[in-house]
Amino acid sequence: MLPDKAVMNYSRFFTAVSAARKPSPIRIITELQQRSPPSVISLAGGAPNPDTFPFHSATVKVKNGASIVLDETTMKRALQYSASSGIPELLSWMKTLQRNLHNPPTASNSVAGGQMDICVTTGSQEGLSKTFEMLVTPGDNVLLDAPTYSGTLAALQPLGCNIINVPSDQFGMIPGALREILSRWDPADAKKPGSTVPRVLYTIPNGGNPTGASMTAERKADVYQLAREYDFLIIEDDPYYFLQFQKPWAPTFLSMDVDGRVIRTDSFSKILSSGLRIGFVTGPKPLVDRVVLHIQASTMHTSTFTQLMVSQLLHGWGQEGFLNHVDGVVEFYRKQRDAMLSSADRWLKDLADWHTPAAGMFLWIRLKGVADTQRLISEKALEKEVLLIPGGVFNIDSSAPSPFVRAAFSLSTPEQIDEAFKRLASLIKEAL
Ligand SMILES: Cc1ncc(COP(=O)(O)O)c(C=O)c1O
Repeated sequence: MLPDKAVMNYSRFFTAVSAARKPSPIRIITELQQRSPPSVISLAGGAPNPDTFPFHSATVKVKNGASIVLDETTMKRALQYSASSGIPELLSWMKTLQRNLHNPPTASNSVAGGQMDICVTTGSQEGLSKTFEMLVTPGDNVLLDAPTYSGTLAALQPLGCNIINVPSDQFGMIPGALREILSRWDPADAKKPGSTVPRVLYTIPNGGNPTGASMTAERKADVYQLAREYDFLIIEDDPYYFLQFQKPWAPTFLSMDVDGRVIRTDSFSKILSSGLRIGFVTGPKPLVDRVVLHIQASTMHTSTFTQLMVSQLLHGWGQEGFLNHVDGVVEFYRKQRDAMLSSADRWLKDLADWHTPAAGMFLWIRLKGVADTQRLISEKALEKEVLLIPGGVFNIDSSAPSPFVRAAFSLSTPEQIDEAFKRLASLIKEAL
């Protein structure tokens, strides 16, 4: 029997590099200075004087007719260094959103007991790569369901870990298969020093990139139970959470996290802007703190300017306005998805198969009778002026053959999608 709530020993998860990170004294003073009243005279810190900067103020027009105004004073702040964890007003807005959407059990934990915390990252990619570097030591066994996001493989593989592929289908990772993999180990060994029991599981729970798979609530609950049994952490990489086509949205791992073993990456890339580079890491404070220490020593913080811009937008909208905007984005992608599905039906029915994605922006297509799509897509399709991604790039071993291609329904018009599939169909026929 597992206890209602485990006592987590976070230090056993940190790599030597992460454990060695110390707060930057200058960063601490900068953050203190920014929280101080104007009566405080600061000769500390190395911040430049924004009066010397060439920018004066900015007005950004929002499509709904509103404006985001960075007046002279706000602009000075926007152009200045800021806290490594993110600007306070964006953090508090996001913390409330996370509480309302996920109601994380960890919100009421003690700090040492893994209280939910959050930090801003420069896109969720920064959060992911820093999380991997915090947790993955060379030789570690890491669980994930491949094919997976190539950016994850790019961040994980150089860390020298052994990636174990957990079988999955259109409903995500299969808990029975995970249990089977884990049965090589004794759960009692998990906490022993030097144990090879995996300490990290990574998955994309909604609208997986590239497969479009979305994990059911039951599967998440089963995987979470296994995480408790074998004491591993779950990295929930969920940039397509807000692009779910069905409501109610699926419960997240974060919403089930009684122990404080889930670290979740969110992204504004698919709903507000990919170029502004705003993402979030939400998880137990001892883990988020380590990510922030890494930020202190690398980028120092996400652009203050973009954080202020996004924060003003969100405070102006309120949560309801934000979710209304998300609904509009979802409607757009739903139409795009449906257009892609009907073109796939028209041109590829006998040549390929696929499942309907419940979230995200990708259709994962298996070409029948094509053992590997690499040459077909990167040479032949290019000649016919149609760009797709051959499935192999999402495999743990990218040279392993893959009969799949990934088609994104985000950018092209329904007419272009139709023409692209027509060209793909003729290519497949030529190849057979
Ligand atoms: C699964 C997944 N994770 C993370 C990212 C990184 O997104 P960003 O850094 O723009 O937030 C992407 C981008 O496509 C993705 O598909």
